[in-house]
Amino acid sequence: MGKDTLEVIAVEATQANMMDYEEARRQFDWADVEKRFSWYESGKVNLAHEAIDRHAASELKDKIALHYSDPQRDESYTFEQLRQQSNKAANMLRELGIGKGDRVFIFMPRTPELYFTLLGIIKIGAIAGPLFEAFMETAVRDRLLDSGAVAIVTTPKLVGRVPAAELPELKHIIVYGEESELENGQIHFSTAMDAASDETEIEWVEPEDGLILHYTSGSTGKPKGVYHVHQAMLQHEYTGRVVLDLQPDDIYWCTADPGWVTGTSYGIFAPWLNGATNVIRGGRFSPQDWYETIQRYKVTVWYSAPTAFRMLMGAGDEAVEQYDLSSLRHVLSVGEPLNPEVIRWGYRVYQQRIHDTWWMTETGAQLICNYPRMDVRPGSMGRPLPGIEAAIVDDQGNELPPLRMGNLAIKTPWPSMMRKIWNNPAKYEEYVRIPGWYISGDSAYMDEDGYFWFQGRIDDVINTSGERVGPFEVESKLVEHPAVAEAGVIGKPDPVRGEVIKAFISLREGFTASDELKQEITRFVKEGLSAHAAPREIEFKDKLPKTRSGKIMRRVLKAWELELPTGDLSTMED
Ligand code: WT7
Repeated sequence: MGKDTLEVIAVEATQANMMDYEEARRQFDWADVEKRFSWYESGKVNLAHEAIDRHAASELKDKIALHYSDPQRDESYTFEQLRQQSNKAANMLRELGIGKGDRVFIFMPRTPELYFTLLGIIKIGAIAGPLFEAFMETAVRDRLLDSGAVAIVTTPKLVGRVPAAELPELKHIIVYGEESELENGQIHFSTAMDAASDETEIEWVEPEDGLILHYTSGSTGKPKGVYHVHQAMLQHEYTGRVVLDLQPDDIYWCTADPGWVTGTSYGIFAPWLNGATNVIRGGRFSPQDWYETIQRYKVTVWYSAPTAFRMLMGAGDEAVEQYDLSSLRHVLSVGEPLNPEVIRWGYRVYQQRIHDTWWMTETGAQLICNYPRMDVRPGSMGRPLPGIEAAIVDDQGNELPPLRMGNLAIKTPWPSMMRKIWNNPAKYEEYVRIPGWYISGDSAYMDEDGYFWFQGRIDDVINTSGERVGPFEVESKLVEHPAVAEAGVIGKPDPVRGEVIKAFISLREGFTASDELKQEITRFVKEGLSAHAAPREIEFKDKLPKTRSGKIMRRVLKAWELELPTGDLSTMED
């Protein structure tokens, strides 16, 4: 691909445009966003009311809020129907004595019932804990135990991975499926929903009350419960309007699962707070299925991830040509670096600039973005939104000048910032260790025009297909295998997935390296933790590099893998 195409996209930031951006920053005030909500005067808030009930009481009442389909089902719901179904879910939970502040988990594939339940949880002021359906027993147990969940809504296929006997606080297991598939003590979702009234009293809460817990991985320890509050809706509404650019007639599709934050903040909250028609497509990814979805619903705004775009690119231009994708008017990406090559390809085949956006589970919503009112610079994450201040700081918190690489930091606070890490104040403190700043864990630099350029993670966190995997969690599972003495896990660069998981393993006495053993160990992680956490590559080593205190030195493993200098080895044992 020549330079020409790139230049078409990278329109030089014009003077007018830059002033527009600066002016927008000067005029911006979160208080103006707050005034867009019905609770601005009453002080009473509930995100589910603002996202659903408020529209059901307006001229949007009979507008389609949700188009749901998968290979078996094909359904649409208006805002009024969503209001009623989420009321039923709220009543079903209340009937069990569940209320404000309780943690209720959802562990099921995407179906309309998942969305009714999540909204129902929020309506009663409880805290939703969405889990990705690929999680296996260990992953499910860690999260339920840490959060003290009192209830879980799941399916017959997945309920076997909920180790109820090990979860003293878990009182209710609600199962969506055939009644005949239920076991003793389980509650049948559909029966309970049928019996519940479709009217309910919303639980009005404080803006600072809990909304949702998203577990995410760090480089050490178990997954962290990132805690978000209702106030976050300010930023969901605002970014939905400005970054997703949602207009009244848009048909919006976010491809993420609600088990990840993109699937809630931008798969539920942002579109519905803006009264948009939201497309949810269940089932597995295939290029044909995805293009068919865009064509069928005439999707106008599409939010996906670099891995997906790279897989679509891999499927070739022919796949695109078989479908009418002309409805698309705005395409966005999040989760990992978006390669300029992908942007060029997207511009050619979709006639759309793919807009990169940067944020994290912890930030709750978009912070640094390319958005319609500004020029896109391929390879850059964009500029901080009006209302957000970002900088590159050194480890002492000094702001660095343009073009110097350092910690990507955001000035605290902003409405959708996490309020705590559940049960773990020390972990939270690590993010805000420099007064006034949130330290993201990403390294980046800023160019002279204020665009930010991603460089990498500072810690060992792996980003595979846009999903964050903590090496520690994988290592812990690996060493549970009888053949594994020690394990060190790193992300290895990969052209499609961004990174893949590679495990270095030393074996216990009596075990010999073989391909069968590699496969068995991979299966062990897949079945014990989750498919996306299983190593794609395993290398056996007699000994792993360790510090004198016994910590496996992942950075040395990474240097070996990339054939780079290993750096300072002074802390390494002999
Ligand atoms: C990490 C956060 C929040 C959405 C999904 C990911 C990486 C995110 C970008 C981007 C380069 C990105 C960062 C970040 N990341 N967006 N546009 N360009 N890297 O959420 O699982 O919390 O992961 O994903 O490393 O820290 P997450």
